[in-house]
Amino acid sequence: MARTYQSEDWDQVRMDYSDPHGELEPLDREIAVVDEALAVLCEEGILPHARYDHDKMLAHRRAVQESFEIPWTAISPRMQRLLYAINAIRRPANMIAAGVFCGNTFISNGGAAVGPGACYAAENLIGIEIKPDEAARAERNVRGIDPTGVARVVAADAVDFVAEFAEPVDLLYLDADGDARRGKGIYLDILRGCLDRMPPGAVVLAHNSVNAAERLAHYLAFVRDPAHFRASVNVILDVEGLEVSVK
Ligand SMILES: C[S@@+](CC[C@H](N)C(=O)[O-])C[C@H]1O[C@@H](n2cnc3c(N)ncnc32)[C@H](O)[C@@H]1O
Repeated sequence: MARTYQSEDWDQVRMDYSDPHGELEPLDREIAVVDEALAVLCEEGILPHARYDHDKMLAHRRAVQESFEIPWTAISPRMQRLLYAINAIRRPANMIAAGVFCGNTFISNGGAAVGPGACYAAENLIGIEIKPDEAARAERNVRGIDPTGVARVVAADAVDFVAEFAEPVDLLYLDADGDARRGKGIYLDILRGCLDRMPPGAVVLAHNSVNAAERLAHYLAFVRDPAHFRASVNVILDVEGLEVSVK
């Protein structure tokens, strides 16, 4: 079933993309909005519960602030918390993030399993970035938090990479902006490449469900069709949005 969660102030959360760590609201408000979103994900059977370690989340945030080089990002503090919480609750053994730029989105997901925010052990956390220079920077950033190598960044086309990835994909995060022809429409190509290796209960997170809704129309129609996904929620807590779907 398709559903929407929309916070009352979603369109007032506008970050300065060049100020990744700028405070947009009191921490209590950020936590309350993310809790509301998690509650809806629980009601839809996407999450089994809404509990995650708030101190570890902040430890993760601090580590990113201290060690990541982030030229710009559209990941708001609310979105960062939501991504961390979903991963901390679902605990995917294998997580793939497609289109990771400097690695901030990737580690918002993977930080639940590596670094000071870790609350479980994953097998593979893989960020895919098609631009080699950006992939190299993302890899440097991630190494600063995770010396183990469980989280790693690969310079590749995500469409090809997921199609060749032989393991089950427990969580797929989509943020690649594709080429001139497809733009964010590439999400569905990436998803189709690994759908048959996503077990029941696997989760797909698609960034920009709000501000790229038009370009994502065919992707959103696909994941909101109960023939493909058991449930899908458009989480609108900032101007970007995140479509959260469970197989
Ligand atoms: C808009 S950025 C994501 C940034 C992220 N939303 C943030 O705020 O930090 C999208 C990234 O996807 C990458 N990309 C585009 N097509 C791709 C593909 N086919 N495979 C992997 N990465 C791709 C781009 O090079 C770019 O770095």
